Formats: sequence, C-alpha cells, structure tokens
Amino acid sequence: MALRLSFHYVWMAVAILTSHMIPTSAEVATYIIHMDLSAMPRAFSGHRSWYTSVVSAAATAPSDSISATSNLIYVYDNAIHGFSARLSPLQLQQLKRSHGYLSCYRDMPVTVDTTHTPEFLHLSSGSGLWPASNYGEDVIIGMVDSGIWPESESFSDDSMTDVPARWKGVCEQGTAFSSSTCNRKLIGARSFNKGLLAANPNLTIAVNSPRDTDGHGTHTSSTAVGNYVPGASFFGYAPGTAQGMAPRARLAMYKAIWDEGAVTSDIIAAIDQAISDGVDVISLSLGLGFFPLYKDPIAMASFAAMEKGIFVATSAGNYGPGLRVLHNGTPWVTTIGAATVDRDFASIVDLGDGSSINGQSMYPGRPPSTRHHALPLVFMGSCGNRTLLKNARHKMVVCDAKDLEFATSQVESTKVDAALFISAKVDLYVKFSFPGAIISPQDGKTILEYINKSSDPRAMLRFRETILGTKPAPMAADYTSRGPSASCPTVLKPDILAPGSFILAAWAQNSSVGFDGSHKLYSPFNIISGTSMACPHAAGIAAMIKGARPDWSPAAIRSALMTTANNLDNTMMPIRDMGYCDRPAATPLAIGSGHIEPNRALDPGLVYDASTDDYVRLLCAMKYTSKQIKTITKTYSFDCSHASLDLNYPSFIAFFNPNKTAASDEVVQEFRRTVTNVGDAVVTYNAKVVAMKGFAIRIVPEKLVFYEKYEKKSFALILVGQMGKKDDEVLHGSLSWVDDKGKYVVRSPIVATTINSTRL
Ligand SMILES: *[C@@H]1O[C@H](CO)[C@@H](O)[C@H](O)[C@H]1NC(C)=O
Ligand SMILES: *[C@@H]1O[C@H](CO)[C@@H](O)[C@H](O)[C@H]1NC(C)=O
Ligand SMILES: *[C@@H]1O[C@H](CO)[C@@H](O)[C@H](O)[C@H]1NC(C)=O
Ligand SMILES: *[C@@H]1O[C@H](CO)[C@@H](O)[C@H](O)[C@H]1NC(C)=O
Ligand SMILES: *[C@@H]1O[C@H](CO)[C@@H](O)[C@H](O)[C@H]1NC(C)=O
Ligand SMILES: *[C@@H]1O[C@H](CO)[C@@H](O)[C@H](O)[C@H]1NC(C)=O
Repeated sequence: MALRLSFHYVWMAVAILTSHMIPTSAEVATYIIHMDLSAMPRAFSGHRSWYTSVVSAAATAPSDSISATSNLIYVYDNAIHGFSARLSPLQLQQLKRSHGYLSCYRDMPVTVDTTHTPEFLHLSSGSGLWPASNYGEDVIIGMVDSGIWPESESFSDDSMTDVPARWKGVCEQGTAFSSSTCNRKLIGARSFNKGLLAANPNLTIAVNSPRDTDGHGTHTSSTAVGNYVPGASFFGYAPGTAQGMAPRARLAMYKAIWDEGAVTSDIIAAIDQAISDGVDVISLSLGLGFFPLYKDPIAMASFAAMEKGIFVATSAGNYGPGLRVLHNGTPWVTTIGAATVDRDFASIVDLGDGSSINGQSMYPGRPPSTRHHALPLVFMGSCGNRTLLKNARHKMVVCDAKDLEFATSQVESTKVDAALFISAKVDLYVKFSFPGAIISPQDGKTILEYINKSSDPRAMLRFRETILGTKPAPMAADYTSRGPSASCPTVLKPDILAPGSFILAAWAQNSSVGFDGSHKLYSPFNIISGTSMACPHAAGIAAMIKGARPDWSPAAIRSALMTTANNLDNTMMPIRDMGYCDRPAATPLAIGSGHIEPNRALDPGLVYDASTDDYVRLLCAMKYTSKQIKTITKTYSFDCSHASLDLNYPSFIAFFNPNKTAASDEVVQEFRRTVTNVGDAVVTYNAKVVAMKGFAIRIVPEKLVFYEKYEKKSFALILVGQMGKKDDEVLHGSLSWVDDKGKYVVRSPIVATTINSTRL
C-alpha cells in the first residue's frame, strides 16, 4: 500500500520529502484522531476545549521518547470531527482509551509526485451554460493546491462585481504576499503547513504564504475560473485568449502543498477552512493511495463538504493505462479522468526534396534552422551510440525511438543540433529542450526512404505550429487512471472525462516552464498534462451549473454531468483509449460516462439524485463497523436497517466470478434506481438499451411517464446472461432514457466484469 498523496500532473516530478519525515515506531508522530462529538461531556464549552483536554490527559502518559511533548496541531471543525496531534506510542495508547475516541491514523507524508478548451467544449456566449450561469458569477471555487500567483492576468478582477456578502474567507499576509493582493476574482488565500512543520521541526519554509512557487495551483485555478487574457500562448504554441471554464466565478486558494513537502493533516485543515469560509465547489487535483473510505482523509473531508451541499471534483490519478489504479473513487465526489483535446503542437519538417512532414513538438527555444539553412540528415538507429551522436553535432539525427525517453536523453546529453524521433508514442515527451520532434512511424518511413535515396539528405525544422481540429478527439489519455474504484468497487469510476492533455493555463512567473538547452525558461503561461488539469475543467463547469441551478445537490450536478456526457468522439465513433490502441472503443473503466458536455449538462431532463442517507446505506452494506461509519459521517445519526450497495447512481457495474459462469450458468444482477424529472413537466421517457455480448438487459418498466417537475419514478435494470471464464474481462453497454419529443437522452454506462473486486 503506497503512502502517497500525489499531484495529478505528469510533466514535473517534484519529489521532495525525505525519509526523516517518517518516524520509526518508537518515535513521536503526527496522528489524525477522529472523535465522536456526541460523546462530548457536558462540562466542556465546545469541541476545542474537549480535544485540548483529551490531548493533555494523554500527555501524562510516560513518554518513551525524550523529545516527546504532546502537541495539538489542528482542531478540525467541519471536514472531520477530531484533531491532529504529535504523540508518542504510549501517549497514543492512552488517548485511544479516551471517552469519545473513534479512530486514528498516522499523518501521511505526501510525495508530490486555456485558450482552446472552451471551444472544444462548445462553450459560447450566445447560448448554453455560459449565459445561463452568467459565466459562474458569484459561485465560489475553493482550490486546495500549491498556492497562487496573484499577479497573473488570469486573476484580474476586470468586469467582476463585488464579492458576495456571504463570503467569510480572508486573504492572509505572508512572504511575498500582501493581504491587499486579493481582489474581486481572487477573494481568499490562505496557507496550511502546521502539520508539515510539526513533522519537520527544523524545516524552514522559504515562501511562507499562499504564493505559488511551483505553478500547479496557478494553472489549475486559472483553468477553473481564469479571467480573459488576450494574446496568451506558450512560446507561440496554443495562441489565443486564455480563459477559465467559469470566467466570472470567484476563487479562493487554500495552499497545502509546499515545495518543502506536504502532509494530509494540512490538506484536511485546508478543506475544513474552505467549508467554513463558504465555498460552493472544491477542486482537488490530488489524491491518496489506496485506502478504505474510513482511512482516506480526502474522502472523509469530502463527505463533510457534500453534506453542506458543496460539489467536490477530484482527479482520478495518472497511473494508467492499467486497470484498478484509480484514486478518489469515492461515491460522494465526482472523479475526473483526463482526455486529449483536438489540438496538436507541431513542428514542420521540410525535407530537401521539397516535401514536408508534420512532427509533434513543443520546443520553446530558437531552432537552428532559423539560420535559413537545412541541416544534413542522418539516421542513427536507436540513437544508442553516444560516440556517433557526438560526431553528429551539427546535423539533424533521426532516431528509431522504440524507447523514446532513452533516445531523447541520449540526444539531449550529446548536444546534437536537432533530432527527429520515430515513435508511435507522443503523450509526454514533446516539451523538448532542444530542437526535436516526434514523427509517426508512417512518416518515419518516408524520411528514411528519402535519406536512402538522396546523395545529400537535408532537412529544416519549423516550430510553434498549432493544429486545431485533429481527429479523433477526445481520447482517453494513456496516463489517466482506470477503475474500478478500490475503495468502493460497486460504484463505477471514474465518472467522466474532461480535457487533461496539453492544457495551456497561467503559471507562477518565478517557476521555470522548461529549458532551451540548459537555459531555464519562464513564461506567464504553461502547457502541462494530467488528471490535475482535467479536474478544474469539471470544477469550473460544475460551478456554472450550480450558479444556474442553485437548488441542485452535488449528486444532481454530478448526474447531469454524467448522463449528458458524450461517449462519441469528433468522428462520431465511440471514444478511443490511447492506452489500448487495438481496441475499438474505450471502456467505462477509462472514460466513465464519457466526455463532459457543459451545455447539455445544464438541462439533463432526469437526474439520479443521492442524499447523505443513501451514502450511509452504502457504507452499511460495505460491512464497515459502526465506528468506521461514524468516522466518516461524524454525528450524523444513522441506522443500517436498509443497507444497500445499490446506490442511486447514474451508472452501473456488476462483478461476476468467472468460475461460476459455466456456459450453462446464467448470472443475474438487479439494480434499482430512481430518477427525478428536472426537465419538461409532462414528458414520457422510453428505455433504449445497448446490450453487451452474452447479456440481456431488461428495464422494468420500460416507459416512465411524468406529469410534473421534480416528480420521481423508479425502475429496475436486470442483467441476465453469461460471463466468459476469463479473469479481468470487461463488457459494457448502456441504458438511455429518451423522451418522446427527442429532446433528452439520459445515458448511463453499464459494465459487467470478472475483475475480482475483493482483490482491489
Ligand atoms: C534540529 O536541530 C537541532 C539543533 O540544531 C538538532 O539538535 C536536531 O537534531 C535537529 N532535528 C532534526 C529532526 O533534524
Ligand atoms: C559506436 O560507433 C562507433 C563508430 O562507428 C563504433 O566504433 C563503436 O563500436 C560503436 N559503439 C557501440 C557501443 O556500438
Ligand atoms: C535503404 O537502402 C538499403 C539498400 O538499398 C535497403 O536495404 C534498406 O532497406 C533501405 N532502407 C529504407 C528505410 O528504405
Ligand atoms: C521572483 O524572482 C525575482 C528574481 O529572482 C525576485 O526578485 C522576486 O522577488 C521573486 N518574486 C517573488 C514574488 O517571489
Ligand atoms: C478459478 O478456478 C481455478 C481452478 O480451480 C483457480 O485456479 C482460479 O484461481 C479461480 N479463479 C477465481 C477468480 O476464482
Ligand atoms: C478474490 O480475491 C480474493 C483475495 O485474493 C480471494 O480470497 C477470493 O477468493 C477471490 N474471489 C474470487 C471470486 O475469485
């Protein structure tokens, strides 16, 4: 089990924490303690004084470490009921005997591993979600991230109205960050590092304020809510007007990720504060490893947010393309996978024979071919021979890059003038620090033939080309984490895809965006990839739906996003999976319900709603103990008499044991769902099913007739059929409720699989 919280972006591996953060068992460590608030003795005036007393009482335990002093770090008010504290093992033992103690776990060290997307998502000022929500005006998004670069033009408050009166947040003063930095766009900025400092008493935080010294938080924030910035680009790539999904929504930054490291006690504190400040949406482009829900602090803090009606968007993680590697597969959040966009960054290779070939590149520097002469072109096999490369310095080398990372590092370190890499893979290596481009295997053949034929083969490279409308798009990105959810397999995850690959957004001006040779480059905008980038797209869109439909629950907003998501790409074929090029269509374990369609989500027709009660019934059915459930639900009173794994969710997943499905054996699984009419008052829906191999899908009833708005109707979906005997088989189909006027299609994916869910 990996004890890691990771940023879901792929470009930069920022591993910072060192082993001194992990105390040996005999040492003092930070623990997050969950308490049962309903057990608080009357004598205490509030939970703060109670927790303080509990910690002081535990501190009287004989300490087994000289330096052990019990130390309350955070008291949490909303996100969880409990606190974090430094405790020795004996003190912890003592504390566990306290009246009202529920559960605890160690604080976890954290390994910190757009111009075009609004158009790609068909957002327009004429109709749809932008005008309906007034561009997200007065909706507040809280980002828990690496801080903010407030001077970025994306956070200017031009054309913004006054800060909503209900807002309770503040703009904290700190290193290189003045409290007057906030404005009508950036309405709050706070930072959290008590947990990090408690674990590392000697640590000096270089920039102790909400200022972003990394760039990630600035990028995700501007993706969600960035104001309009004309003339944005990354060294000429992706030129245009940069803007977030909800350009009029407000932003509050909760910095809990530091260059010096990060721990979950700080993340909980950040979410805790965001809840009390009054955010409407929380965007979490980070996640933990694989923990049960009652040990996953992000899941628990999100539960508290959900109870308050706050929509929580989380990233699925970047551990694809294998199955069951997904993070944040939490039933009450919306889990976002990453998709490609219909945009390529190209380098054009002009060959000496007058022909041209498109390569892929985001080289930001000045190419040697601007010297107006073509370089000699030489083929160097796999580019594994450094002697040969060093002798080819003033040439353009061609590498058969079966191992792209190896080939690029060879070329980089031998200081070759320019290089072309023949590779089927593009995803992550195009941000070259030297004039380089990736060439498809087909085009590679053309180049090799030209080299063969010509007595003096030469080529020139042109950079900074942006090609729009590429097909097919979107695709599930290679890296996006696939389900099923390890923490709750019976809820199909991820929920949806949003743009994640090569996203242009604002950046921290003092953090480098790349290299030209060994020379660091800086830019107010950067292009990076990851589910970290997909998450704030969904958060911004959810904020606008919340603005336009203020009475919808987080589950209703999620349902609207899911049932209107597009499962087809721009060639009208099922969305493909970059991780499995041999397969005709991506499965819902990669794409969930499909790619986010903001305008359609505004008016989904029907929603699958879910309340706190529904989630609790699910937790009961997961066979959690009542203490474990209480750790998540806090004082919310519950009874488990209606336990059910069958959450009212807009997607379906059934697990079957391959050994029990001999050819003659029929397997059956029944799901029950209730939909709420949020469209036309009088409307009839008919079930339309896309079946899967070997299964019959029955819907009872097949027709739903509504007479008024907000009316609810229930139905059953019954899967009957035969599952193959293969392990890890994934079959998928769908159910669509289609209204009789052809206005609404309310689509849900259905998965039947032999993945062993207890092995997740
Ligand atoms: C912190 O600094 C003090 C004084 O320099 C030193 O004695 C102690 O070992 C250091 N602690 C850690 C955890 O590095
Ligand atoms: C690299 O190429 C040089 C020149 O052709 C050759 O002498 C040498 O053996 C090669 N090295 C390797 C490791 O193949
Ligand atoms: C180049 O020419 C040689 C000799 O004619 C031939 O064996 C080889 O297959 C050719 N390579 C390519 C890529 O055309
Ligand atoms: C950014 O870097 C410059 C140059 O190193 C420095 O003078 C400036 O203080 C930095 N700004 C912030 C806000 O850190
Ligand atoms: C199915 O049965 C075979 C043979 O009995 C066994 O090796 C395998 O582990 C079983 N698989 C599952 C998923 O139960
Ligand atoms: C699933 O995996 C678990 C743990 O490895 C094993 O005990 C169980 O028998 C497996 N179930 C099936 C249906 O194969």
